[in-house]
Amino acid sequence: MTKKTILITGGTGYIGSHTAVQLLEADYQVIMLDNLSNSKADVVQRVEKISGKKVSFIQGDIRDDQCLHQVFQNNPIDAVIHFAGLKAVGEGQSQPMRYYENNVSGSLSLFQAMQSFGVKTLLFSSSATVYGDDGVGKYHEQSALSPSNVYGQTKYMVEQILRDIQASDASWRVGILRYFNPVGAHPSGYIGEDPNGIPNNLMPYIAKVASGELTHLNVFGNDYPTPDGTGLRDYIHIQDLAAGHLESLRYMLEKNTSITVNLGTGQPHSVLELVHAFEQVTEQSVPYQITQRRAGDVAICYADPSLAKTLMGWQAKYNIQQMCADTWRWQTYSKTILKI
Ligand SMILES: NC(=O)c1ccc[n+]([C@@H]2O[C@H](COP(=O)([O-])OP(=O)(O)OC[C@H]3O[C@@H](n4cnc5c(N)ncnc54)[C@H](O)[C@@H]3O)[C@@H](O)[C@H]2O)c1
Repeated sequence: MTKKTILITGGTGYIGSHTAVQLLEADYQVIMLDNLSNSKADVVQRVEKISGKKVSFIQGDIRDDQCLHQVFQNNPIDAVIHFAGLKAVGEGQSQPMRYYENNVSGSLSLFQAMQSFGVKTLLFSSSATVYGDDGVGKYHEQSALSPSNVYGQTKYMVEQILRDIQASDASWRVGILRYFNPVGAHPSGYIGEDPNGIPNNLMPYIAKVASGELTHLNVFGNDYPTPDGTGLRDYIHIQDLAAGHLESLRYMLEKNTSITVNLGTGQPHSVLELVHAFEQVTEQSVPYQITQRRAGDVAICYADPSLAKTLMGWQAKYNIQQMCADTWRWQTYSKTILKI
């Protein structure tokens, strides 16, 4: 049987690179397309080193129709996993046009190219930010959609475009995957989250405080209605998240169907729980200060992940201790050995 070829947009990014490794290990051919706006080209070699397999890399942009045309013309692509996008919530608020253009127009260009070349199997990186604040904090796939920021709007809009495409043409197989809070790194320490500048997300920030690159962590509010007063989130190990993509793809191809699923653990943890787990696992201290609540943050947000388990047998396996250990290995190891 010939190997299936998967195009990964945003392939050198955090989630794309971990998913690429698992696809290669499962004997798919992988083509990565990335404009390197938030990642580095040496990720390609790292992915090859972990998997022992070759990857095709194209430096290009999903908003470049000519580039997309060439990619689909020159490669026998069976399915696309679409990670490419901008993801910083605060940046989206201050640069809405850039976010709508990159995330929404870029996605539309990609879907048009797929349609022209008859490639109609797609997984899309959506986010828990599409859900509105329901005051409870546990979200299932039928929960009301009401994003509260520009970034979440871009995800909601692309989801809607995909729902309309499916409604107009039943031969499309679309997987809308709503991620909760991906953290951790590949256990090899070769790939992990490598944001440009000061991290926006909690775990990379904690890792940089522990390593001394940043002095302390700001904890935004300790007066939420939660056991320790800090916000509760659903942290999911990147390896579990990557596995969720493989299971979704397998399920969609086998059943010839579309899906919308949450990918989370269903276990909420507070900011301080994560900080203390990190300190315990790594034996490093993480100084923090309690500051004002941050606008737009909700008290509690975690997944009801039961649909993904019922449909395709996927569930998260890693706990927060493993998430911390793998983050720390990446934080420390990558600095010393990764001159490939
Ligand atoms: N990490 C999270 O917390 C999280 C949560 C929910 C959803 N998501 C979504 O998952 C996807 C992947 O996230 P990530 O954490 O791996 O982010 P990332 O920034 O590490 O990866 C995204 C990649 O896309 C590339 N890219 C951006 N715009 C592009 C364009 N126009 N053309 C080509 N490449 C482009 C970037 O260079 C980067 O390598 C994003 O769409 C993000 O919105 C992420």
